[in-house]
Amino acid sequence: MMENNILINKRFFDFLAPYYDKGILGKFLSNIIYRTVVSVKIKNNSKILDVGCGTGNLLYVLERKKSLKLYGIDLSKKMIQIARQKVKTADIREISVTNLDKEFVKNYFNYIFIVDAFHHFPNHKRVMKIFYRILKYGGRIIITDFNFGIILNKIFSALEPGNTGNYTKEQIKKLFKESGFMVEKQKKIGLFSLMTIGLKIKGKQIITRHAIKKDIK
Ligand SMILES: C[S@@+](CC[C@H](N)C(=O)[O-])C[C@H]1O[C@@H](n2cnc3c(N)ncnc32)[C@H](O)[C@@H]1O
Repeated sequence: MMENNILINKRFFDFLAPYYDKGILGKFLSNIIYRTVVSVKIKNNSKILDVGCGTGNLLYVLERKKSLKLYGIDLSKKMIQIARQKVKTADIREISVTNLDKEFVKNYFNYIFIVDAFHHFPNHKRVMKIFYRILKYGGRIIITDFNFGIILNKIFSALEPGNTGNYTKEQIKKLFKESGFMVEKQKKIGLFSLMTIGLKIKGKQIITRHAIKKDIK
């Protein structure tokens, strides 16, 4: 089942790669990335991972900011070829999200971004555990994904190749909490996208609202 999903996504995005950045759809998707990035106040010298980085548009926006160590992973060779051309300074690896924990050590990243890719990943609960493991304490996970509402999410999921499910605001909040993250913020991006920011905190650590607000725009 998992192998099958990975294969379907690999084929689907290898096929889409030459067209992905083109036209109105390309502009629409880039705009979601831009609005996600500007919603997070990123600290200098951070290590940042873009999971399902596709053609590298998020890493490209971040490359303009100074002193960041950028990483991307994706399973589509063709998407990655474009990303590597676009973002020369990033370390971009061709692997599945399911193998991330073999690639990076525990408590490594300050930020993990996943934009429009989470609904393609297999086994969401397991993947969230992997994100938790490789994120530092005090680090943030930012997932922006499509949310059309409970019924349309099911229809979209059935129609799109490789789709493993979209979440409503409450459903993703629950998944974050169950995976150990504190949900800091949820925000609608455009008509159909929802951004959720989670914070990895130590068990009994208390973080004041003021401290959190300083880091989120
Ligand atoms: C809709 S694209 C989004 C790309 C990019 N994040 C963006 O917003 O432009 C989804 C990406 O997820 C990648 N993907 C799908 N399943 C994956 C998996 N199991 N592991 C890693 N990447 C995966 C696809 O290859 C594709 O590049």
